[in-house]
Amino acid sequence: MYLPLAALVTLIATFAYRSGRIIKHNILSIPDLPEGYYQGGDWKEKCNIVADEGSHTLKYCEDMTFWDHFDAQGALEERLILMGCDPNRKAWNTVMGPLRDPEPRGYLWLYSATSHGSPQPVSLDNYPEAHDFHPLGLEIYPSHAGDSSNLFIINHARAGTTIEQFTLNPASPTHAVWVRTLTSPYFVSPNALALTSPTSFYVSNDHLMTRRLPSPFGHVLPLIESVGGLPLSWLSHISVEESTENDGEITLNHTFAAFGVSFANGVAISPSGTELALSGTSMGEVYFYKRDPSTNKLTYAHTVPVPFFNDNVMYDDSGALIVTGHPHFPSLIAVAANKTGAVSSSWSVSISPLHMEVASPSFALREYDMRAPLSASKLSPATMNYEVETLFQSNGTAFQTSCTTLRDAETGILYMIGLYEEGLMVCTP
Ligand SMILES: *[C@@H]1O[C@H](CO)[C@@H](O)[C@H](O)[C@H]1NC(C)=O
Ligand SMILES: *[C@@H]1O[C@H](CO)[C@@H](O)[C@H](O)[C@H]1NC(C)=O
Ligand SMILES: *[C@@H]1O[C@H](CO)[C@@H](O)[C@H](O)[C@H]1NC(C)=O
Repeated sequence: MYLPLAALVTLIATFAYRSGRIIKHNILSIPDLPEGYYQGGDWKEKCNIVADEGSHTLKYCEDMTFWDHFDAQGALEERLILMGCDPNRKAWNTVMGPLRDPEPRGYLWLYSATSHGSPQPVSLDNYPEAHDFHPLGLEIYPSHAGDSSNLFIINHARAGTTIEQFTLNPASPTHAVWVRTLTSPYFVSPNALALTSPTSFYVSNDHLMTRRLPSPFGHVLPLIESVGGLPLSWLSHISVEESTENDGEITLNHTFAAFGVSFANGVAISPSGTELALSGTSMGEVYFYKRDPSTNKLTYAHTVPVPFFNDNVMYDDSGALIVTGHPHFPSLIAVAANKTGAVSSSWSVSISPLHMEVASPSFALREYDMRAPLSASKLSPATMNYEVETLFQSNGTAFQTSCTTLRDAETGILYMIGLYEEGLMVCTP
């Protein structure tokens, strides 16, 4: 009993030392963020919240993704945004707790980044009656010449996390047709996914020790794993294979893609397909890997530190990575626990590759991101290969608990959702 405990304490101390920067800036102190800041202009004029005033179910959204419709010539006809929301998150959250009431289902919402009308709820057609729906990471394949798209959604169901497969057709975009539920012993704690084909994807597993463990382990161990920065989580690659003989029987081909990450969270593939970005939340770091598109093998390339606990990541069409996260962990926990008056901040940055022939070592000591009221440079060191720039930040007044940001490189418009915030924030430059 005591030896494992001593080993655990040593391990935690080691990793706490390793993640000292983020513990100092994002746990022990509250970053001095402004009420609101938007890189494209005055946030009060440029940023608007799109919500559903009737049902109030476009709320507490964890992930969103673009759904692009291309015509037969390959030109972009329409760009929609699909959001997974769970207004019941304060009673059911398998990542942060609590696990109190899995009953009320979450919602899917659709918003057009092309026509900017009202958001539309998406129905889950043929979805099994008794099946929970608690959407987390989601991604949909683009549609070409009107064909149907496969949609995969991570579902924090009561008995265990599953991945739900749907199809969605541009002719009836508000009807997601359920296809099947994917389960696997490898789905310990899936959080985010990135598609590699219409039937395959990378999926991150955020913890080895989860909230679902019996009490008191479920309360303590995941927190130790998160805050201690224990590198116990991983990224898998899954392909869904349908047997042609065995009556369409499904097998999942699982391979490990990356190991030893502290709180593997958001994952995204670059527009070229040759790079993959993965959030290591506990370390406040983004890991870049070279990706072989023919085998899905990854080779570690770079680490870029960010000034917050990074959550979801998404590339824009120009190849910049948009990273969003939580600048102050204790206040996020307070909001998740429904403490009266608790507010938690928001921050999102872009990470763009620098193409430099020669960089002097002092280049890594430079200040950067100097336009933002709270420069990222005050909290995290510069890197040689990438430039980090703040897109939006707020102490929680303008927008709170940011977890995913998309940027439409064509229009420059920024879209943001928050884990415990109502609505989609749309900031137009
Ligand atoms: C955010 O900043 C504004 C302006 O400084 C301040 O009035 C407000 O109380 C702050 N909110 C939080 C949660 O710190
Ligand atoms: C959160 O607190 C409010 C009151 O402050 C209460 O009305 C609501 O039911 C609580 N939600 C949950 C999920 O406990
Ligand atoms: C499973 O996937 C791996 C890697 O993508 C591949 O090499 C292997 O052939 C696949 N196995 C089957 C049974 O399809």
